[in-house]
Amino acid sequence: MHNKIATAAEILRAGGTVAFPTETVYGLGADISVPSAISQVFDIKQRPTNHPLIVHFADTSQLQHWAKEIPDAAWKLAEHFWPGPLTLILQRSHRIPKSVTGGQDTAGLRIPNHPIALDLLKTLGTDTAIAAPSANRFGRISPTTAAHVRDELGEAVNMILDGGACKVGLESTIVSFNNQIATILRPGGIPLDALAEVLSGQVVLANKNNIAQRTPGTHASHYAPTTPLEIHSPEHIFPYALELAAHGLRTVIITWSDYMRNQPANEHIDIFSMPHEPTDYGKQLYATLHQFDHKKFDRLLIETPPDNPDWLAINDRLHRASQT
Ligand code: TXA
Ligand code: MG
Repeated sequence: MHNKIATAAEILRAGGTVAFPTETVYGLGADISVPSAISQVFDIKQRPTNHPLIVHFADTSQLQHWAKEIPDAAWKLAEHFWPGPLTLILQRSHRIPKSVTGGQDTAGLRIPNHPIALDLLKTLGTDTAIAAPSANRFGRISPTTAAHVRDELGEAVNMILDGGACKVGLESTIVSFNNQIATILRPGGIPLDALAEVLSGQVVLANKNNIAQRTPGTHASHYAPTTPLEIHSPEHIFPYALELAAHGLRTVIITWSDYMRNQPANEHIDIFSMPHEPTDYGKQLYATLHQFDHKKFDRLLIETPPDNPDWLAINDRLHRASQT
């Protein structure tokens, strides 16, 4: 792996793109200081250029290199959770070009917790940072394995570093600071409770109207499979699948409870059990959606997950995936 990382660093320095593993999802990386590399990232992803990219770097002691006017709450979170699945939105320093931030004066900053990502960043050195959105096309499911990246981006990316399946499997929690108050823009790998504990309760969830227009995760259809995805309650999901089956439509029911255990077999209906526990469920969610999107189902039917804070990120992604 060490040689591969050295090669990846060379490619990035020369203005190429490298997909690499993080603990959340795979990123599509480019050196922030090479404008042509940044525009390649937008091209490959087919992402509008006013949608900001997250900037990844290696060490909390470098935070002031990339950001300024850093609130106390941001320092607390950085010191506690980095490296980890947390992105902080802060005033950018002059070292981060506007092309990376979609023209905004703030930047999303993160230290990923993955040995390959950290090794790559350290090889590049402390003056370099990598812009890396998730390595999928705009609006599609994020990749959690190198194979997902290959299927999605193919030859468009210059190199893919394979670090196995991502441990968290959902994107980072994004936190911005409004008048010093930590505000969750996107729920993710770090649960609300964990943030609240470090900040003595001083954390709020952005309501939908507060979320910046330019946050792509807030577009109607996002993180979406190509097969239509619907969310239904445990009571209604099986009868609904039977109704579709009567019209000759094939469905897979993705369940987490024991509710589906005793349902009669039906040749048009597959049942797939996910873990009961949100951390495990989150880790497998995208791989499961990728897996069933490749089979010829007419609908993916998701059993409504529990409505509690530990399932916040999962509910958020499923909700977005269900919108067309
Ligand atoms: O876990 C993750 O965060 C992964 C890995 C690769 O680090 N990255 C990721 O990047 O999910 P992306 O580009 O798919 O999503 C980044 C999100 C977008 O919704 C973007 O708008 C938001 O971060 N973001 C970045 N900079 C921002 C800023 N200055 N203000 C508001 N939102 C920002
Ligand atoms: Mg993404």
